[in-house]
Amino acid sequence: MEIFDALSYDDVLLVPGYADFLPSEADISVQLFENVRLNAPVLSAAMDTVTEENMAIALALNGGAGVIHRNLTPEVQAKQIFAVKRFLNWVIDNPITVSDKMTVGDVRRIIQKEGVSGLPVVQDDGTLVGIITHRDIMFCNDNSEKVVDRMTKNVIVEEGDPSPESAVEKFHQYKIEKLPVVDNGRRLTGLITVKDMEKHQSYPNAATDKKGRLIVGAAISPMDWQKRMPLLTEAGVDFVALDAAHGDSRNVIEAVAAIKKRYDIPVIGGNVVTAEGTRRLCEAGADAVKVGVGPGSICTTRIVAGSGMPQFTAVLVCAEEAKKYNVPIIADGGIKFSGDIVKAIGAGASCVMLGNLLAGLKESPGKEVIYEGRMFKQYRGMGSIGAINEGAGDRYQMKEGDQPVPEGIEGNVPYKGELKDFLVQLTTGLKKGMGYCGCRTLDLLKNYRRFVKISGAGLQESHAHDVLITQEAPNYSRR
Ligand code: XMP
Repeated sequence: MEIFDALSYDDVLLVPGYADFLPSEADISVQLFENVRLNAPVLSAAMDTVTEENMAIALALNGGAGVIHRNLTPEVQAKQIFAVKRFLNWVIDNPITVSDKMTVGDVRRIIQKEGVSGLPVVQDDGTLVGIITHRDIMFCNDNSEKVVDRMTKNVIVEEGDPSPESAVEKFHQYKIEKLPVVDNGRRLTGLITVKDMEKHQSYPNAATDKKGRLIVGAAISPMDWQKRMPLLTEAGVDFVALDAAHGDSRNVIEAVAAIKKRYDIPVIGGNVVTAEGTRRLCEAGADAVKVGVGPGSICTTRIVAGSGMPQFTAVLVCAEEAKKYNVPIIADGGIKFSGDIVKAIGAGASCVMLGNLLAGLKESPGKEVIYEGRMFKQYRGMGSIGAINEGAGDRYQMKEGDQPVPEGIEGNVPYKGELKDFLVQLTTGLKKGMGYCGCRTLDLLKNYRRFVKISGAGLQESHAHDVLITQEAPNYSRR
């Protein structure tokens, strides 16, 4: 029997090389799937203390994408996907409308229920006849008054296929907040809002789809995809991730193939750590392969089951195989610092999936806790007792009613504030790494292939040493 050596991120360093650009000029965008382009190669982990709608919105606004966990009922998960898709638009496709025969009371109810501030008024055949906003009815005491008597009739519109420039010009010129889009028969086809235009301007790096909506993914399992897929696709999900600890298994491989047969949507298969596992997922039709068995900060799989693979080697081996199928690799787990992102991509990953690094952010769903005067957020493995008790057991091949045998732990991570500022630390660290290696794009970094293996003394030398740290850095701590 031959026993191979395998390495972790801490075992290696990228060898610096000549650069003819500044790190700030590095391009960290990645085309993950045909319709999914990220402006930062970061996905948030499908974990119940990491990714729900707030995290998914914040991450996509800043260039990455969230994968909403599946310890939620299919209905609630789909509702969260819908909330992310609705957060930002270019042209809203099916805007909520009212009929000119309705009353002010009806409009008030709709505005409150749907959380919108203005509604196009249409006739039965969809013809736009006016617009009614919160302001039009603010001082109206009579709920039975007709919409037709309160609405603005001379509506400024866009016709056909508008451009952002022309919409901005109209908002500016007419000082309006909603801009209905109509066809040449004046039937309503969409709505542009000033709020959406402002958000696009505030977040120029947002990861968006063709309609200007935020990119978002959802976790599914081989056991529940039939229930979840119809609701998720209806809600507008951009991709799904088969969320399983052992992706090189019949259930997962068959689920990938079955989903690809029925749905025209990118499917991430995983998790695997070998070339054979990668090959089986690629041949089943996976659009990306997620790599990692046991590297996560809250994982105990390798200890409980004695199985796994140090993550750097796992990414390297899987990426080598996936390249033959032109399938991207997602390096999932074990990323402790921005430098590990550089190493993961250097090993051949197209993007990384982060749990621990994002769990302490304001936008994560984990509970805030104060401990010894400092603020923390709870972070737990999906194979921990707490997560299993709330339904995550099938990720670890457990059935309902089984005695829980955890493969993860529950803990706290320091509170880190808002995602926007923290992500800059990660993406700038990545750009610095690209600068040191002279790789202007992620593709160049993926193909750079110059690593050295370091010793324990090398790792010690890499970290801050022989000094008492008196000021914590936003991107470095010794744990
Ligand atoms: P990090 O290191 O970013 O890792 O915290 C997050 C990834 O860890 C995986 N995960 C688990 N693995 N037991 C495991 O063995 C668990 O309980 C567990 N929960 C999450 C998952 O792939 C995640 O993205």
